Amino acid sequence: MVEVGREKFLKRRHLIFAAIGSAIGLGNVWRFPYMCYNYGGAAFLVAYVIGLFAIGIPWLVTEFAMGHYFQKGAPEVFSNIGKKWEWVGWFPAVSAFLIDSYYCVIMAWTLIYMFSSMTLAWGVGPAGAEGAGPYFFEQVLQITDGPGVLGGMRWQIVLSLAFTWIVIYFVIRRGAEIIGKVSEVVMTLAWILIFAIIARSVTLIGAVDGLNYYLDIDWSVLKGPGVWFAAFSQIAFTMSLGMAGMYAYGRFIAKKGDITNNAIITGLADSGFAFLAGFAVFSTVGYIMQALGVPLQDVTISGIGLAFVTYPVGVSLMPALNTLTGVLFFLMFWIIGLSSAYFLAYGGFMVPLIDKFGWKREKVVFWGCLVCFLVGLLYCTGGGLYWLDIIDRTVAFYTLLLGGAIASLVVGWVFGADKLRKHVNATSDIKVGPWMDVLIKYVVPAGLLFVVIYGGFMQDLKKPYGGYGVWANFIWILIAVVLIVSFILQNMKSKIEIEKEGK
Ligand code: PFF
Repeated sequence: MVEVGREKFLKRRHLIFAAIGSAIGLGNVWRFPYMCYNYGGAAFLVAYVIGLFAIGIPWLVTEFAMGHYFQKGAPEVFSNIGKKWEWVGWFPAVSAFLIDSYYCVIMAWTLIYMFSSMTLAWGVGPAGAEGAGPYFFEQVLQITDGPGVLGGMRWQIVLSLAFTWIVIYFVIRRGAEIIGKVSEVVMTLAWILIFAIIARSVTLIGAVDGLNYYLDIDWSVLKGPGVWFAAFSQIAFTMSLGMAGMYAYGRFIAKKGDITNNAIITGLADSGFAFLAGFAVFSTVGYIMQALGVPLQDVTISGIGLAFVTYPVGVSLMPALNTLTGVLFFLMFWIIGLSSAYFLAYGGFMVPLIDKFGWKREKVVFWGCLVCFLVGLLYCTGGGLYWLDIIDRTVAFYTLLLGGAIASLVVGWVFGADKLRKHVNATSDIKVGPWMDVLIKYVVPAGLLFVVIYGGFMQDLKKPYGGYGVWANFIWILIAVVLIVSFILQNMKSKIEIEKEGK
């Protein structure tokens, strides 16, 4: 068996599939289409493409290249730049752990819905349209009144979560070789499924009306900061950056493997999938509007509500093939979640632990999966959805973007953007010029800090996030905790070594 130090993806395409798999996730389906609709259709696409080439791809090149250069996961990359910077690599690793703990719970719901689609458990026809909301909140989640009331475990979710983690365990326990092969299969399946779902959706009556909303153009939005905030935050989220995992995947690229081209392919495939998903989402929304005679405002078109309430409504109203469409949609959802979840687990926090402490891969994978599963139990309670939302705001927004900005500054200014560029050019087909230095040193950190300050601090300080009252303060507490844990991890090994030397 290949030890982690020499672990590589067997073929170039395995890396590409794995990286695309990590990027394509729940966010492509429930975040991108909504943002496109909300921020001026094609105008959003303009801001998004600018963000993709000015921030997303350079940032991905940076993470790949740093992992490849040092042949290490994120924390060791930064400790090699300078011992005092190691926490900059732990910060995203801790975030990846926290994200994965709830991301897999969403996958667990998806699995439950795959089975409930077989019987249309929330109801058929107009009854299903009425029943989808209560089914999700009252039956599956059995939601409580707020984050202060946990209300006990929802065992169906626990079981489904356990299954999800067992699958993840078997995918990652032998490292990059198997991850690459599995990614090739599951991503191929995901693309087939999304095309099948689109074919079903666009043939529904009213689909065109929905699509008109999706792509309705309003250029004037480009003048305001909102669309830029939305586009840049979506780029960071969707490309799975700032989560430590891409350093690990970069490290698994063959010695003479390509970096720039792989990053561009990953960015474009991820965006393409999101754009296509919008056709499935908005055709279905158009159909619901037509079938129920309701305006768009009455239909939830983003986030958890889109996947677990609106889509089931669409499925129960469909004139034919509804159970099949439901099963395929939730299967697709679970699959795209899976390839992001094992990325967050293995590349995100396990490779950093293996690298830093020299622990055996089998052990880290086993305990890592188990502990992350146990932390996830919090979200399997009746109050779990509230906590999921609060933690999501903390890590998938604040720490992701802040961590990315800091990492980019350290790479650009301390390690040296020119050194990075030379390494990238030595390995890649597409050569980058000195403009890349400008992107890494200025554009990426400035773009990310703009999002954190404009879309985060300024909004949350004005009005605490999510209407959770005092519980919303957990966001700030958690950011501090992530930081403190990062410092502790940074300093742990030296203590262990000193103790060993002393003996
Ligand atoms: N990029 C994936 C998605 O869009 O769902 C996975 C993901 C990574 C989600 C990082 C959230 C996140 F913060």
